[in-house]
Amino acid sequence: MSDLDNILNSFETKFSQIKNKNDLQNLKSEFFGKNGSISLQFKIMGSLNVEERKIFAKKLNDIKDKLTSQIDKKFKDFENQAINEKLKDEKVDITLPIRSTQSGKIHPVSQVIDEISSIFSEIGFSVAEGPDVESEYNNFTALNTPEDHPARDMHDTFYLDKDKKTLLRTHTSPVQIRTMLNGKPPFKIIVPGRTYRCDSDQTHAPMFHQLEGLHIDKDITMAHLKGCLNYFIREFFEVKKIKMRFRPSHFPFTEPSAEVDIGYKIKNGKIIIGEGDKWLEILGCGMVHPNVLKNTKVDPNKFQGFAFGMGIDRLAMLKYGINDLRAFFETDFRWLNHFGFDPLDVPTNYRGLSR
Ligand code: DAH
Repeated sequence: MSDLDNILNSFETKFSQIKNKNDLQNLKSEFFGKNGSISLQFKIMGSLNVEERKIFAKKLNDIKDKLTSQIDKKFKDFENQAINEKLKDEKVDITLPIRSTQSGKIHPVSQVIDEISSIFSEIGFSVAEGPDVESEYNNFTALNTPEDHPARDMHDTFYLDKDKKTLLRTHTSPVQIRTMLNGKPPFKIIVPGRTYRCDSDQTHAPMFHQLEGLHIDKDITMAHLKGCLNYFIREFFEVKKIKMRFRPSHFPFTEPSAEVDIGYKIKNGKIIIGEGDKWLEILGCGMVHPNVLKNTKVDPNKFQGFAFGMGIDRLAMLKYGINDLRAFFETDFRWLNHFGFDPLDVPTNYRGLSR
């Protein structure tokens, strides 16, 4: 048997035992590498005479072609095999039913707070915040509501200690105190936030939301208060004209004090804000009491201004036709899905600001 036949035989035997790509790579170098059996045969060829060389070269080249094509094919086989195995592992069963996904919604209260903040920011108010746990002093005393004042009973306060020194704030008004104590006039803020009272029925929840407003400067009058509220209510309810009336009232922290009603009517079971001969109470307001200014180191002979407070949840109920307040805080996803807002579906009066 010639050397070439031996080489061929040894290749066939080794080739038949190959198990993976690595073995194949080794076999390829054994035969075709720099000192591989086939490469060596090409070197020998030079020593042969012309006739012998012709025959040898033909045979050697045939063997070379045969083995390379065998090796190449085997490489392809291994690659295909790897792909097939991967496909098997990563197989996607497209007949399976899809998993349902739920996208989040913006709660009507958050939505309304964003709307209110952006409306007031248009006329120069900035947003202030304060803690839910307040001192009795900030919540009542500094707001001109001394200990024996009947207004304290009306607030159904959740006290947090025996001495009644700390409490869950019953309104957002204490943020007036915090803001004025921590800064210098003028002040022009709104304060959205959570408030607490021991109360629960269809229109009252123990935790609810209020919006406080405060504008203090050298010559702020009730006319400014009226203009500001008129603008806000028109913008918020997206109506051109509204009927609004100021009713004399009493709050310890304002003098004079008023409650504001807006006109409305019911048409086809729906509430229409701005028209009609019915009145809806919407907020409390007044000129900040000189005692409150004194308590916060603001000179009442130099500065004066107005304050107002309203229920955010009620505004949301009115604007978006929701009639049970308790549902706001039950975290029922079906409810939120119905009354909530798509983050990208912004209402027309929304100006792109957030809290
Ligand atoms: N704090 C009052 C309440 O909870 C609402 C209020 C009324 C706030 C008049 C004010 C105001 O700032 O001037 O009932």
